Amino acid sequence: MLNRINNILSNIKDENLKKKYYELIITLLEKGYFPGLAGVPVVKSQISHIDGEKGILTYRGYPVQELAENCTYENVCFLLLNGDLPLSEEKNEFRQKLLENRKIHPNIARVIALMDKDLHPMYMLSSSVLLLQSDDKDAFDVERYQQNLLRSISLIAKLPTIIGIFRNRDPEFAVNEQFTSFAQYCLYCFNQELAAEKQWVDFFEKILILHGDHTMNNSTFSARAVSSSMASIYASISSAINSLSGPLHGGANERVIKMLEEIGSPERVESYVDDKLSRGEKIMGIGHRIYKTYDPRALYIKEKILPIIFEDKEAIRVDDDLMNLYQIAQRLEEVALDRLSDKKLYPNVDFWSGLVLKAMKIEPRYFTTIFALGRIMGWCSHYLEHMKVKNRIYRPEQLYDGFGIRHILVNQDEEKVNRA
Ligand code: COA
Repeated sequence: MLNRINNILSNIKDENLKKKYYELIITLLEKGYFPGLAGVPVVKSQISHIDGEKGILTYRGYPVQELAENCTYENVCFLLLNGDLPLSEEKNEFRQKLLENRKIHPNIARVIALMDKDLHPMYMLSSSVLLLQSDDKDAFDVERYQQNLLRSISLIAKLPTIIGIFRNRDPEFAVNEQFTSFAQYCLYCFNQELAAEKQWVDFFEKILILHGDHTMNNSTFSARAVSSSMASIYASISSAINSLSGPLHGGANERVIKMLEEIGSPERVESYVDDKLSRGEKIMGIGHRIYKTYDPRALYIKEKILPIIFEDKEAIRVDDDLMNLYQIAQRLEEVALDRLSDKKLYPNVDFWSGLVLKAMKIEPRYFTTIFALGRIMGWCSHYLEHMKVKNRIYRPEQLYDGFGIRHILVNQDEEKVNRA
């Protein structure tokens, strides 16, 4: 057996991969299981790739920064779903398809508009995605690729509409409006004034693109795990949204802003960080399971978007409160790098994205829904890929650590069951 393992490992040419497999074997032998499934490949996928040591993220081979710099939402969505960038006529047709599909059945729209306004938008979103299934009689017909593709486009198109209806308490939200791009429509759901300004639409579009896909993260894993039972795409995307809501995943961007507000001034950053670390608590927006260097998405926002918003006074004027939050974040980055870079912990995308959204005057409780508007492209692409390759149902193992077999003791006198 050992010889066989050694033979297999010695045939692997990629040294990094070999190291990863050794680590997996050691973890299994030492612990008997893989906590948090860290390092365990569960699928073969062609959608995105991360080199966590070098800080590289690609979608279908293209570096994410190049896509954010040069592409539209429609381009990237088409790329993720279909495997390649669209030709020019395909691009226009695809944009049309997205904009046409944004309308929601009036009965469903009314239910969404009536949902309690205090319900967190992420749970409103996941429930509403499930509601959409009532307008799709063939939702369980999941084996035909073309049908799944059409459903994906329809879902991607309807996600901003759900948010627009709920946020504006209006079942007819934007039904008669015209939009030049899908990103413009997405921004319109949060800020109608800024949606008329090209520069803000561009920033918003870049944020959506940067969130498009991210290999086997928690929400994508959830989407694939649910779809592996041949559940409907609505069930799969709804569970991905629920997973994304957590503070260790997409929910971090909302909490980063709360944390910056709580710190209050750049002078208080050092004591805040030291306090947190001494209590063994985590700093929101810092660290990543895969990146062992700066997250390329975070770097793009920091270098290409934030300087225009916060440092180019000709372009945009931000108020003093927001400028203060930016300065706190800058100081926090310095202190976090000083205290945590030896553990290879760096700012992640959530650390910086919240400041861009805050500059757009979007309420922090909606921040994670914007992450979802980007990531739905990836979730649907994984759904399509999963259904195409006919992966096995996800059914991992556990290391049982509970009671051995024990028996019920029936006490005839008391007529009740006692513990052994
Ligand atoms: N602040 C301080 N310490 C952190 C940290 C953070 N944000 N993230 C990780 N660490 C430390 C842990 O305390 C642990 O230290 P130890 O080895 O001394 O015990 C070590 O780094 C490994 O952390 P762990 O939680 O096991 O890593 P993980 O891979 O399971 O978790 C995250 C990855 C992203 C969940 C984690 O870094 C985190 O919670 N970050 C904050 C939330 C966040 O920003 N999430 C958005 C991700 S895009």
